[in-house]
Amino acid sequence: MILVTGASGTIGSSVLRLLRDRGGPVRAMTRTPATIAAAISRSASAAISGSASGSAAAPGSGSASTPSEVEVVRGDYDDPASLRRAVTDVEAVFLLTAPASPTPRHDLALVEAARAAGVARIVKLSAIGTGERLGTGEGFGAREGFGTGERFGTGEGFGTGEGLGTGEGFGTGEGFGAGEGAGADQVVGGWHLRAEQAVRASGLAWTLLSPSSFASNTLGWAGAIAAGAPVPNLTGAARQGVIDPRDVAEVAVAALTSDGHAGRTYTLTGPAVISVPEQAEVLAELLGRPIDTVDLPDDAARQRLTAAGLGPAAVRATLVGSAWARAGRNEIVTDDVPRILGRPAGTFRAWAEDHRADFGVSAGG
Ligand SMILES: NC(=O)c1ccc[n+]([C@@H]2O[C@H](COP(=O)([O-])OP(=O)(O)OC[C@H]3O[C@@H](n4cnc5c(N)ncnc54)[C@H](OP(=O)(O)O)[C@@H]3O)[C@@H](O)[C@H]2O)c1
Repeated sequence: MILVTGASGTIGSSVLRLLRDRGGPVRAMTRTPATIAAAISRSASAAISGSASGSAAAPGSGSASTPSEVEVVRGDYDDPASLRRAVTDVEAVFLLTAPASPTPRHDLALVEAARAAGVARIVKLSAIGTGERLGTGEGFGAREGFGTGERFGTGEGFGTGEGLGTGEGFGTGEGFGAGEGAGADQVVGGWHLRAEQAVRASGLAWTLLSPSSFASNTLGWAGAIAAGAPVPNLTGAARQGVIDPRDVAEVAVAALTSDGHAGRTYTLTGPAVISVPEQAEVLAELLGRPIDTVDLPDDAARQRLTAAGLGPAAVRATLVGSAWARAGRNEIVTDDVPRILGRPAGTFRAWAEDHRADFGVSAGG
């Protein structure tokens, strides 16, 4: 049995669908079980052509719309008893956390439950740039290769849905682990760093996935695009190795189901670096309408993020990560995706072509 956490979200739903299509026993964890069938369907309709089958799930017996091949468990990182139930009889866990405010507590809780239950393997979704420090080019040293300037950058989101898009949302990890002390607010992804440390120390066979900025972050621009308003840009002209989230999911499935990935940290990027204005150009062409971008100074970004409901720690984390990406620190392309999947990583354009409809505007309309 493989447990997929974050199963209703962008990456988790793809991981879930791919595992279901492989036919092995798979369990989805969510606080809202009713959302899982729809999440799998969404993922299926967005499947990469040529990848594992994207057929819609058949209705199952457990619920009117839950696929029979997927077991759904109600689980909340803030409810330890629910985690114990979720990991029962599980061999491998896909660990995805997305706390509203940056904290490693969710990861730590799941790692502890998995360890106690005798889970053998864990694959954690982290983020590129984790542990790097804004301004120095160096990290806090939990990962191999810090300070080389080669493999780390930024690119994750706290998912405000407010259209800040690429480059938003990076945990500073204040108040815990490596993010403590002077300059803590300048650490990228401190909460992921502390979580990574727990995963490495868990005694389980671990794999860490550190993706760059997701192509799907641009879906947060849909409202602005539909309104003909400029897309806010926190990363200026800096480019990032924007990745198709479906590639992240495929790598996760490889790490969960095949050998040779234990003790590895994969830095996952698309095949090329691309800036926010360049992403807007691609979308403008595909959607048949002009899409402008507007650089957002920190104060304006802070106001927007706060208005969107982010707490102060999440806002600070977002601004640190954005500043870091803006400084060009995420202009990184790796070959981890093609090496693991045996095919090129997907381009931003290919992702955008497959998701045209998700922007809610018809071409030229
Ligand atoms: N966006 C980027 O560019 C980017 C880049 C690199 C890394 N990342 C990392 O990717 C992760 C986000 O992945 P995503 O975009 O796939 O997430 P997402 O679509 O925002 O989904 C978040 C998931 O987390 C689950 N969740 C939230 N709070 C929970 C809780 N208390 N207990 C149990 N489950 C909970 C939600 O499940 P329910 O609501 O159903 O319970 C949902 O399935 C983050 O760790 C982020 O740092 C993002």
